[in-house]
Amino acid sequence: MPRPDAHKLRIAFGSCARQNKPQPIWAEISAAKPDLFLFLGDNFYADTHSEAVLRRRYAEFRSVRALQQFRQQTPHLAIWDDHDFGDDDAGGDYELKNLNQQLFCDEWAEPADSPRRTRQGIYADYRINVGGRSVQILMLDLRFNRTPLRADPAQQQGYAAMVKQAKDSGQPMTGWYVPNPDPQARLLGEEQWAWLTQRLAEPADLRLIGSSVQFAADGSGWEGWANFPLERERLVQLIKTQRANGVVFLSGDMHYGELSSWPVDGGYPLWDITSSGLTEVWDIPTPNRQRASVVVAETNFGLLDIDLTEGGGSLTLSILNGAGHMRLSKTLALDNLKFKPV
Ligand SMILES: [Fe+2]
Repeated sequence: MPRPDAHKLRIAFGSCARQNKPQPIWAEISAAKPDLFLFLGDNFYADTHSEAVLRRRYAEFRSVRALQQFRQQTPHLAIWDDHDFGDDDAGGDYELKNLNQQLFCDEWAEPADSPRRTRQGIYADYRINVGGRSVQILMLDLRFNRTPLRADPAQQQGYAAMVKQAKDSGQPMTGWYVPNPDPQARLLGEEQWAWLTQRLAEPADLRLIGSSVQFAADGSGWEGWANFPLERERLVQLIKTQRANGVVFLSGDMHYGELSSWPVDGGYPLWDITSSGLTEVWDIPTPNRQRASVVVAETNFGLLDIDLTEGGGSLTLSILNGAGHMRLSKTLALDNLKFKPV
């Protein structure tokens, strides 16, 4: 999608849309007139271990009229998260993942020879030329090779009581997953790491990393890179060794929207804008030590306004609610997303 004459690009994104719920939010996203929309996963809810049911869920997804009209009008890219990969919090041991990789590629119009059909997951990279400058989009697969999560069983058993207590008290509620320091714990496989290493070595003015779960958030106890601290550190080190400027994370999954920021020693902060969900809302306060904004606990979508005016440029990160009202916004100068010259 080249835009050689313009210096501006508007990208919208979102996640977590139940196919059996009304989806009026697509009219609001259309009204924002994005050049591109990124589906960041949980694009529908399969939640099954049956091939017949999985196929039926795709048919249900295709019958959501407002969503499909939007897809006809707006260029878009997609990755999956757990629910459309297969099941709640599913990972690399999900038994229908190879079949679903083909169904995903069919649904999102990947050609027969697309590498997304044969690699270890549906990760993919894209480029948009904006007035002679380059926006790189790296869409990760955080499911296909993910090793099992580590949970605190006591918390898992007490879920109903935890929810009740949080609702009654208004106090934050932590989920049951705990960081796994095992060097064998994996979010990406080695093949995806090799691809990412090559991509981050390429020049770009801005790099948007689509990550279906939160990168920078810490301490929620739900899914996220926080559960794989060595994998997160590996990516931070990779960005540092490649001196990859302009990295910003886009994430979903949480059923609320927020901004987080991960500090990088000797580098620049890695911002992570989370938009979730298109239909789903989690209104119980959730901890996040890296939170850098209000929490948008209503249906929402994300907007990125990219201005690549020559010599500088900026990126405005926003979350709008389901009625199209701005709920948070932050502008970053691209000069502040750079390593200092050595
Ligand atoms: Fe999810």
